[in-house]
Amino acid sequence: MKLADNKATLSFSNGNAPIELPVYSGNIGPDVVDIRKLYAQTGMFTYDPGFLSTASCQSAITYIDGDKGELLYRGYPIEQLATNCDFLETCHLLLYGNLPDVAAKADFTKRVANHTMVNEQMQFFLRGFRRDAHPMAIMTGLVGALSAFYHDSTDINNPEHREISAIRLIAKMPTLVAMAYKYSIGQPFMYPKNNLSYSGNFLHMMFATPCEDYKVNPVIERALDRIFVLHADHEQNASTSTVRLCGSSGTNPFAAIAAGVACLWGPAHGGANEACLNMLEEIQASGGISKVGEFMEKVKDKNSGVKLMGFGHRVYKNYDPRAKMMQETCDEVLAALGLENDPLFKLAKALEKIALEDDYFVSRKLYPNVDFYSGIVQRAIGIPVKLFTGIFALARTVGWIAQLNEMISDPEYKIGRPRQLFTGSPRRDVVAIAKR
Ligand code: SDX
Repeated sequence: MKLADNKATLSFSNGNAPIELPVYSGNIGPDVVDIRKLYAQTGMFTYDPGFLSTASCQSAITYIDGDKGELLYRGYPIEQLATNCDFLETCHLLLYGNLPDVAAKADFTKRVANHTMVNEQMQFFLRGFRRDAHPMAIMTGLVGALSAFYHDSTDINNPEHREISAIRLIAKMPTLVAMAYKYSIGQPFMYPKNNLSYSGNFLHMMFATPCEDYKVNPVIERALDRIFVLHADHEQNASTSTVRLCGSSGTNPFAAIAAGVACLWGPAHGGANEACLNMLEEIQASGGISKVGEFMEKVKDKNSGVKLMGFGHRVYKNYDPRAKMMQETCDEVLAALGLENDPLFKLAKALEKIALEDDYFVSRKLYPNVDFYSGIVQRAIGIPVKLFTGIFALARTVGWIAQLNEMISDPEYKIGRPRQLFTGSPRRDVVAIAKR
């Protein structure tokens, strides 16, 4: 970052002396007012619950222009990456800052393939869960448990440990998500097959059985790989900020990523894809497109607490570019599977059309986000609704790791420790219980 030729002056009406605050610029996007010395100079904090106007860090990984609906991974537009690259190339880009050439891609692919298995003991963690446990409860436990198996690579300040942990997490997430799925349906776990692509291997572990050969459908393999690319990173979203804050204590990478999995589960965040599909199914069950008007009235009624899941975004005040790509992927997969008339896809498109013409949504700049169509295409592939967020976590793991590693490599990083505006009781003395 570089000092801007601009300064901020903070003046007070109570006669306190004004202070000057430096302004810094990045390469693109908003400048920042540097308030690091504000408390020391004024005895005051800034106040920004939800961090709507707060940059928590400087980063060179992902840039979002919410007004334009633009998303760049290391400068490359998401549309170009999702069309011209695969997920492992995108992982290499996010982790190391550049797209790999043929040799580097082959090396990276081999390094990931060499770590796809998990310790056999991991199966016993699964057996502790009920078969109907939510996959995100299982994933939160399994990812955290990985730290128990890799004592050789849990020092987050050791670059070699960070590197091998990154490879292990990227390689093992598909294995763990597939194990959570197989456990829920009472089928045997399928071991990874390293001669398959990253996405092909995941499909095999999810849907193959020991009883017969399984053939990966190339259309679904490509669609799933694109879904992974679209979910790989997204600047300082809630789960990424969670991973950064957790990692800032110096804890091991597996524990920090497990914290990200837990945060992503929430319906306001990564859990929205599951909530969105459940919403579509409820509308469909209550009458389908004929009931959309009634549903929209509920959404616009503040007291209903009903939201149009998969719509709206803290940063995008235009169409989420990932939603556009996801809708295209929906078209491709449904056509390939002969499901062009999928009622939920028709319903989703009808909901989108109505919302984009309704002043409630237009005035609040609410557009479809990544979660609006992702559930439809995952359901068409055969992924159960409860596993949607697990797929999101699988894909976002590389982004979390890249962001965590960037933070740890930043010489300026400190343990994250926000302050507060205290509105509780001033000092008071305890009274003996007999006199309370
Ligand atoms: C993800 O941050 C990221 O980058 C996240 C993510 C990533 O890749 O990591 O992009 C992934 O989490 C996408 C978002 C998935 N969540 C959902 O689809 C859930 C539904 N969306 C909303 O919960 C909401 O839009 C949020 C949480 C996504 C954003 O909330 P904000 O930024 O806090 O905005 P807000 O709640 O203050 O909303 C502004 C207004 C409010 O109305 P008013 O008080 O101004 O009258 O818009 C309304 C909200 O009530 N609103 C919605 C709405 N989203 C916002 N009303 C109806 N339906 C919605 N979906």
